[in-house]
Amino acid sequence: MKRSGINVNIRRFKIKDMDAVLDMTKECWSGFSFDQKIESLFGRRGRAWWEIKRESIKAFLEAHPEWCFVAEINGEIVGYATYSVDRDRKVGHVLNNAVHPKWRGRGVGSALHERVLEELRNEGMDIAILVTSVHNVPARRMYESHGFKVVWEALYYAKSLKEEAGSIRAKRETKKWTETQHVSEA
Ligand SMILES: CC(C)(COP(=O)(O)OP(=O)(O)OC[C@H]1O[C@@H](n2cnc3c(N)ncnc32)[C@H](O)[C@@H]1OP(=O)(O)O)[C@@H](O)C(=O)NCCC(=O)NCCS
Repeated sequence: MKRSGINVNIRRFKIKDMDAVLDMTKECWSGFSFDQKIESLFGRRGRAWWEIKRESIKAFLEAHPEWCFVAEINGEIVGYATYSVDRDRKVGHVLNNAVHPKWRGRGVGSALHERVLEELRNEGMDIAILVTSVHNVPARRMYESHGFKVVWEALYYAKSLKEEAGSIRAKRETKKWTETQHVSEA
């Protein structure tokens, strides 16, 4: 397949591609990861966000190597797309689609996505569903230009429990102190 003047080969993932796919995790997902957001807000807690993402992709690929396509340019893996099929419900899940930042904006993500959709059709799926962040403008553009519509919106909340414990204690102490002052002044 030729896009933006580059030859992109979309093919099935093979176990020997594992390291190439996993080694792109940090660069591919930086700026688009919820765990990275949490890490930036609350500090690193144990494993880095990209190690968590890497482990989840590795676990997925070990369990379902058949549910992944990779994109190659000149024999180098530059992106990948994972999916899953629910044969009972005939629902296909479009999962992780990532292109190395160096190769973005040249149709690689779309080529992977189209291959996934083709495969979901081949598998007899009736519906394709996917989740992405409202902040992920490139992904939203890609999915919406392939006809996906927003059907549900969700919000992710987080707060520091330590801060709250501290601030509740501080409030209680202030209240106690004010009451004592009030009594002693009376
Ligand atoms: C989303 C992603 C896979 C797109 O890959 P890509 O190879 O750059 O995408 P393409 O070049 O095929 O472009 C696809 C569409 O997105 C648009 N697009 C790409 N980058 C964009 C950007 N930075 N801002 C706005 N639109 C953008 C393109 O114009 C194109 O739209 P069109 O079909 O209407 O012309 C890539 O940005 C990526 O790896 N992001 C990080 C991982 C991620 O968030 N994945 C998706 C969540 S599962």
